Amino acid sequence: MIVTIDGPAGSGKSTAARDLAARLGYDYLDTGAMYRAVALALGRRQIDLTDLPAVEAALATVQVEALPGRVVLNGEDVSGLIRNPEVSQGASRVAVIPAVRRFLATEQRRVAAGRHIVCEGRDQGTAVFPDAGCKFFLTADPVTRAERRYHELAASGEPISLEEVLQAQVERDARDASRDLAPMRPADDAIVIDTTHLTPDGVLARLEEEVSRRCPPART
Ligand code: DC
Repeated sequence: MIVTIDGPAGSGKSTAARDLAARLGYDYLDTGAMYRAVALALGRRQIDLTDLPAVEAALATVQVEALPGRVVLNGEDVSGLIRNPEVSQGASRVAVIPAVRRFLATEQRRVAAGRHIVCEGRDQGTAVFPDAGCKFFLTADPVTRAERRYHELAASGEPISLEEVLQAQVERDARDASRDLAPMRPADDAIVIDTTHLTPDGVLARLEEEVSRRCPPART
């Protein structure tokens, strides 16, 4: 079975997806990490994102593998290079390009084929796995989301203020939700959960409850 968890940055979906996958004994796919790796690859080669033939030619030489807890770009573990604010904006920019979305959606479907897996991102329940057995969309109030992200970045030594995080988040949300292809939105049949006042354990409990109530069987 495929479980999808979509939502904006800071909604708690990565932690929730990881924890739910562990609890169910499912695999876990972080599709945001794949967009981040592509952004890194195109940025390193200084590809002009408006030059679509150049983007397509570059994609033909890019291989992205999202493994549990790490992402590998053409054989290089780039997990430690993709979590900074610059790559976050870059990922959101490359994510509007249809060729990039097609490229990564194909890879995501290939990874998920025949597996029990929790896939998290922005379009997993709407565009990539419309027939998923159970779909969630997590959300939270924007200031809470920015505070969560700010604490993560501060803990990793990133010199950035809460105001800057909030401003970047507003930009990224707007771009992710307004693009033509597979914009971020809840699927019509998604269970929407507001995590503003929930702890990670509280979110996990809600997800588990919904999975067992609405989408049995929950265990492999
Ligand atoms: O989840 P994240 O913050 O790591 O995602 C980084 C960017 O990648 C996000 O701003 C939009 C894009 N993305 C996407 O368009 N579709 C997905 N399924 C996952 C991420």
